[in-house]
Amino acid sequence: MKCLVTGGAGYIGSIAVKELITKKHEVIVVDNLSKGIKKLVNKKAKFYKLDLTNYKSLSKVFQKHKPEIVMHFAGYKAVEESMQNPEKYSDNVIGTANLLKCMNENKTKKIIYSSTAAVYKPHNKTVTETDELEPNNYYGETKRICEQMILWFSKIYGIKYTIFRYFNVIGDGGLNYIDPEATNVLPIIMEVVMNKRPELQIFGTNYPTRDGTCIRDYIDVIDLVDAHIKSLNKANNEIINLATNSGTSVKELVSEVEKALNITVPKKNKGRRAGDPPTLVASNKKAQKLLKWTPKISLKKSILATYKAYN
Ligand SMILES: NC(=O)c1ccc[n+]([C@@H]2O[C@H](COP(=O)([O-])OP(=O)(O)OC[C@H]3O[C@@H](n4cnc5c(N)ncnc54)[C@H](O)[C@@H]3O)[C@@H](O)[C@H]2O)c1
Repeated sequence: MKCLVTGGAGYIGSIAVKELITKKHEVIVVDNLSKGIKKLVNKKAKFYKLDLTNYKSLSKVFQKHKPEIVMHFAGYKAVEESMQNPEKYSDNVIGTANLLKCMNENKTKKIIYSSTAAVYKPHNKTVTETDELEPNNYYGETKRICEQMILWFSKIYGIKYTIFRYFNVIGDGGLNYIDPEATNVLPIIMEVVMNKRPELQIFGTNYPTRDGTCIRDYIDVIDLVDAHIKSLNKANNEIINLATNSGTSVKELVSEVEKALNITVPKKNKGRRAGDPPTLVASNKKAQKLLKWTPKISLKKSILATYKAYN
């Protein structure tokens, strides 16, 4: 299949590109390299450095390659930054609008879209796909708007979609990815382990959870990409959580890292951060059923793979 991958130089996109190439698909990558790293892009993929907000350049790529399918990873994803610089995050929406326009003009059949747990209205029960949406930050809102645009383009023009809502993505897909601007907890722990930070700050130790720290659902990036590959021909016009159905607290995660690496991670308890829900764990029943997919990588394996990447 001829597949255009946006954000294919980023953390998840670069692994998806590698997997698509392994499975003999033809891959075209577009990425503005704002955060992506060119050397992560598999040499067999055709690469274009361009910003999705530039309709003219994007349109030329579509006209030249006529992709059959799009995997749309490109986007800005830092929650805090989205509240300080919303203009930048509006590009997530403008880029997706341009992409959908190009897809329709060039008869691209399907989009596989990277959405997020941040679209949901936070609550403490296991999240299912039909739960209420109410993002509490602008990043999540841009993702919700993009989801809605995709649904409308599907309704009006018949473009197929699989929208994936990712929970906390961790691990390494064999490309030794090091997050250049770590904001997620495992890359931050790795920076502490590598002496790039003095300690891990634990934000909130008095949440109504089993040990007082926030509980999250950590999904390995290899499992995540596997679901994308499986959705090339399946799960059309579906919205699907990608999660493990089980939660790990910050303290439990740190303790897993300490056990796996046989070290002690320096840590400091801090106050709660605004907007952090105590628990965020999702059901993956829909993914299991529609994609015949199940996450296989253990937390320990994800930690060891991440550690290897940082060494
Ligand atoms: N990593 C996670 O835990 C997580 C969780 C939920 C959702 N997501 C979503 O998954 C997608 C991929 O995430 P990631 O972790 O690989 O992020 P990433 O930042 O590593 O990759 C995103 C890529 O998109 C590129 N990009 C950004 N804006 C662009 C634009 N306007 N035009 C062209 N290229 C652009 C960046 O240079 C980068 O290479 C994102 O859309 C993100 O919102 C990620």
